[in-house]
Amino acid sequence: MRIAVAGATGNIGSLTVAALEREGHDVVPISRSLGVDLFTGEGLDEALAGVEAVIDATNAPPLDEAATVAHFGRITRNLLDAEAGAGVRHHVLLSIVGIGRVGGNPHYAGKREQERLVAAGPVPSTIVPATQFHDFAAMVVDWVESDGVATIAPLLVQPIAPADVAEVLAEVAVGEPQGRYADIAGPEQQDLVDMARRTFAARGRDVALVPTWSGGLFGVEMAGSVLLPGENARITPTTFDDWLATA
Ligand SMILES: NC(=O)c1ccc[n+]([C@@H]2O[C@H](COP(=O)([O-])OP(=O)(O)OC[C@H]3O[C@@H](n4cnc5c(N)ncnc54)[C@H](OP(=O)(O)O)[C@@H]3O)[C@@H](O)[C@H]2O)c1
Repeated sequence: MRIAVAGATGNIGSLTVAALEREGHDVVPISRSLGVDLFTGEGLDEALAGVEAVIDATNAPPLDEAATVAHFGRITRNLLDAEAGAGVRHHVLLSIVGIGRVGGNPHYAGKREQERLVAAGPVPSTIVPATQFHDFAAMVVDWVESDGVATIAPLLVQPIAPADVAEVLAEVAVGEPQGRYADIAGPEQQDLVDMARRTFAARGRDVALVPTWSGGLFGVEMAGSVLLPGENARITPTTFDDWLATA
């Protein structure tokens, strides 16, 4: 199949391109650095010629809530409109587990807008909600680390390997549109602070972590089971330790 991956140079997008190519599909990679901009629409109609399915694994810059909603809204509308024009039969959106249960997080508000537009949009779709990725702990520490010290919220998560997310997206894209897919998650629950400690220990990096619910992006509204996958989740195989050993 001819399948486009939006966000093809990103963490999940690049692994998704690789997963599709392993299965022999004809992949059209989309990103600004490859000359296609979903925000302006530059190069988009040309990129989607002959494409049967599109996987959206793009991301948005850190902005306030209104700007994030506007940004995700615009790139999603542009992509769906171009897909409708090109006769694309299946749009697959990578989303996040639990975003409907958390207020006050700009990125989550943007992802809810994406889900809303995709579900109501002109192209049959599948929305795949994933839990936090195995590299999420190190990423959120990097956002705030200063002089070797970082605050981090003790979130309870059930993280998933990026390569496992990519495998699911590649599998879903070649099938029929399913509406809302099951939550996808890794096999074990983890504490985000512990994940960060183990990641930096494995990488030989010295960062003093200060566990706190105050002052950061993630507050107590995200405590407890809020971010955990639902009952009928699809559990993927790679544990955090498996990933850490190879990352
Ligand atoms: N991190 C987590 O734990 C987690 C968990 C669940 C779901 N997610 C979701 O997963 C998605 C992908 O995350 P990621 O970490 O893989 O993203 P990422 O590494 O930041 O990659 C983003 C990709 O989008 C492309 N892009 C950005 N703006 C674009 C535009 N205007 N037009 C075309 N391409 C554009 C980027 O390439 P260029 O810069 O070249 O344009 C890049 O290829 C996000 O939507 C996130 O919400 C994340």
